[in-house]
Amino acid sequence: MTIQNSDITEALRHVNDPDLNNDLVTLNMIENIHLDENNVTFDLVLTTPACPMKNQIKQACVDAIHQYVDDSLKIEVNMTSKVTSRRKETDVMLRDVKNIIAVGSGKGGVGKSTVAVNLAVALAKTGAKVGLIDADIYGPSIPMMFGLLNERVAGYEKEGKSFIYPFEKFGLKILSIGFFVDQSKALIWRGPMASMALRQLFTEADWGALDYMVIDLPPGTGDIPLTLIQEFPLTGAIIVSTPQQVAIADVRKAADMFRNDKINIPILGIVENMSYFIPPDLPEKRYFIFGQDGGKKLAAELNITMLGQIPIDPAITSSGDTGMPIATDPQSPVTKAFDKLAEAVAQQIAVANQRSNP
Ligand SMILES: Nc1ncnc2c1ncn2[C@@H]1O[C@H](COP(=O)(O)OP(=O)(O)OP(=O)(O)O)[C@@H](O)[C@H]1O
Ligand SMILES: [Mg+2]
Repeated sequence: MTIQNSDITEALRHVNDPDLNNDLVTLNMIENIHLDENNVTFDLVLTTPACPMKNQIKQACVDAIHQYVDDSLKIEVNMTSKVTSRRKETDVMLRDVKNIIAVGSGKGGVGKSTVAVNLAVALAKTGAKVGLIDADIYGPSIPMMFGLLNERVAGYEKEGKSFIYPFEKFGLKILSIGFFVDQSKALIWRGPMASMALRQLFTEADWGALDYMVIDLPPGTGDIPLTLIQEFPLTGAIIVSTPQQVAIADVRKAADMFRNDKINIPILGIVENMSYFIPPDLPEKRYFIFGQDGGKKLAAELNITMLGQIPIDPAITSSGDTGMPIATDPQSPVTKAFDKLAEAVAQQIAVANQRSNP
């Protein structure tokens, strides 16, 4: 009896996506099955190129076909991805951006910008199309962190409307209030003028199609971050915190801001920054200076996912000054932490998207 495409499909119904809790065929993740004598090829379409389970799922497909169809078949799986979204067709603002992620915190100085920048870099390295908006009108730090301090935006006119180009660096598209105004004058911009300029970054910039847009919010839970998160069509929020005891109240404040009735933005999870120290001469060792489980306990208490822990490393501070985000350095142990964080974030988004349009 000859083998049919439907035999392959039936076999792959036995393989589940462990995050999305359903089989690959039902999830429409199998395409272009091709049979040629003893060879089978097909596309496995993941919901994100940052999928941490990539290799396990691929192996499970091979095993299932060998088990249920024929164990002598030669199988070639083409791994691709199509990032999912739950934006509405009717959305006007950033219509071609599939997922918009805000990075916030209960207080300043905990590493929001560091996390936003390196998360965006790590997502882009997986092959996703990524944008980054510096929405911190108090003190935009992204131009400095990308070595774009003295740059000014270029624009063009189309059908009587003007558009600006985001900067492109390390595979990312980037815009900041800092590209429109002197860093030293940014402070007097607070209020309506700054909000208007900020709105232009979203509505009058040529972002094109993006899988993920990361937004670095201003610190705290005051009026400006609140207005921002109300105004923009966010997919979800990430809260950055440090492991000290004092940070707990701040995380709760931030969580309340996103979960507020009027706002109701899903919290994708917490990132604990400056969690542990890796001695340079013992790269396998980790010192949890502030205790190891504070963040995890807090996450459980607030019913929020713990997305990842980022080590404390002086190289992060210097990378902020040289314009080379640490996640671009393949040698740094911090890069691994950000790569894992990017996977966790992409995974949470895929799960949330799947839940809301099954
Ligand atoms: N894991 C880390 N290890 C070492 N230094 C870090 C780490 N994370 C952040 N820093 C440093 O701490 C300082 C504050 O970080 P960052 O600017 O990212 O915080 P922020 O929350 O965005 O601050 P603000 O509230 O002012 O916007 C920076 O000098 C940064 O380089
Ligand atoms: Mg910042």
